[in-house]
Amino acid sequence: MIIDAAKRNGITLELYDTNQLAFEVTDENDGALLADAFLQRCMSYFRSIHVTAVLESRGKAVVNSYKVASVCGNKLLTSIILSRSKIPTPRTFLTFSEDASLKALEQLGYPAVLKPIVGSWGRLVALVKDSDSAKALIESREYMHPIQQVYYFQEKINRPERDIRCYVIGDEVVGAMYRHAPTDEWRTNTSRGGMAEKLPITPELEEISLKAAQAVGGGAFGVDLMETDSGLVVHEVNHTTEFKNMVRVTGVDVPRLLLEYTIKQVKQ
Ligand SMILES: Nc1ncnc2c1ncn2[C@@H]1O[C@H](COP(=O)(O)OP(=O)(O)O)[C@@H](O)[C@H]1O
Ligand SMILES: [Mg+2]
Repeated sequence: MIIDAAKRNGITLELYDTNQLAFEVTDENDGALLADAFLQRCMSYFRSIHVTAVLESRGKAVVNSYKVASVCGNKLLTSIILSRSKIPTPRTFLTFSEDASLKALEQLGYPAVLKPIVGSWGRLVALVKDSDSAKALIESREYMHPIQQVYYFQEKINRPERDIRCYVIGDEVVGAMYRHAPTDEWRTNTSRGGMAEKLPITPELEEISLKAAQAVGGGAFGVDLMETDSGLVVHEVNHTTEFKNMVRVTGVDVPRLLLEYTIKQVKQ
């Protein structure tokens, strides 16, 4: 879709496949990368931030920047920033042991939510229904990569069977949609079968989404929000956001807007 948008709008686009690149990190004049600005589309958090770091070291503009992406790709760092910026966000605990986790969960109440601090598509985002399931989840995480032993527990928001995805580019909310949870699944990610539906951009949605985008440093984002009795809460600010469903239900040309925004970063 990005390639098509570039063709339709006369934008010169060079594609770089990170599998084919060998960056000479210690040679600042490594001229292999000719573009003026880069739209980072690596889905892997670890790959994308490292590639972005090298591109920025060459003076290239990257959407999103290393600083922004490293915060957004980490749910804990995002929670810290949202909370410090007074943007409503679910109550969250960080723990490292079973004991401390059970104490945190007592405070949050059951059911609660356990998330990997780095991850997407709802992967490993688990509903913790009681202390037995908490212990089982923690035990299973002990056999995983150490990053899965950084426990991020969150209050389960009492929301409708849907959440909200809001696409922010620069200082504009370009589109918004509900994501309805599929049957037999509480998570609403479209990659898990969540159904997208166009949502009008209300002033409340616009204000909180732009604030969240600014709080993490500004750029192009998929802001995830939930509805509560006392208003919207932001639970995630995604930095390499897919847009297939957003384009389908809203008709907004997100790839063109992303390309134009990226080009604008060079001129600044
Ligand atoms: N605190 C919460 N309360 C209720 N539902 C949640 C909560 N956190 C996440 N969810 C559900 O789980 C989905 C995935 O969580 P999210 O934090 O967005 O992680 P991911 O990066 O995997 O998308 C959300 O889209 C939402 O449907
Ligand atoms: Mg999400």
